[in-house]
Amino acid sequence: MQRLDKFLSEAGAATRKEIKAMVKAGRIAVDGVPAKAADQKIDESVASVTVDGQKVEAFRLVTVMLHKPAGYVTSTEDPRDRTVMELIPEQYRRLGVVPAGRLDKETEGLLLLTNDGALNHRITAPRHGMKKVYYAEHEGEADAADAAAFREGLTLRDGTVCLPAELEPLGAGKSRITVQEGKYHQVRRMMASRGMTVRYLRRETEGGLTLEGLPLGEVRELTADEVHALDA
Ligand code: URA
Repeated sequence: MQRLDKFLSEAGAATRKEIKAMVKAGRIAVDGVPAKAADQKIDESVASVTVDGQKVEAFRLVTVMLHKPAGYVTSTEDPRDRTVMELIPEQYRRLGVVPAGRLDKETEGLLLLTNDGALNHRITAPRHGMKKVYYAEHEGEADAADAAAFREGLTLRDGTVCLPAELEPLGAGKSRITVQEGKYHQVRRMMASRGMTVRYLRRETEGGLTLEGLPLGEVRELTADEVHALDA
């Protein structure tokens, strides 16, 4: 059993204060019966709670992947730019998902968002070394010397030292890059340090997850198995 206002606020439906007013206004029902008080007890495992006739799903930990298009910043709010949150369906925003890591405004590809704080840390903390694979189109052509420099751990133009990474040349102006950390503009700066300005960048995989079957701009929820694999 749980208080109705706790259930609704955790589900992201409204604040406790707002819920009190909504109950008074007759906007909240439990199993079809208008709620009498914000603090009434409900059995959240079986009760159907509605706000303005819309069923409210209980809070749960959830992780989604977004196939991020260019032109959106990875942030929950921004005064100028559109944010990735605009692409996240309301049902997940209500549950409080936030980006785990970031992609630059012009980068496309796989971005994870979660309301699970421990998992967010696991995805983003450099010491966990979660692998991220990028496809880049760039000036020039990568060669064996570039790949060797990546393997050894590059030093960027500002002196930042990167962990060992992989560079796979894919012919003129194309490469696949695997990194295990997420420094600011990391891939663009790594490529620039070898004289190859990146023109297009897409994250293809993260922690073994791929974008397969997910159209640009779309979101899908991870399965429990996929979340466990990230957590391993
Ligand atoms: N490296 C970059 O330079 N940009 C990204 O968006 C991700 C990795």
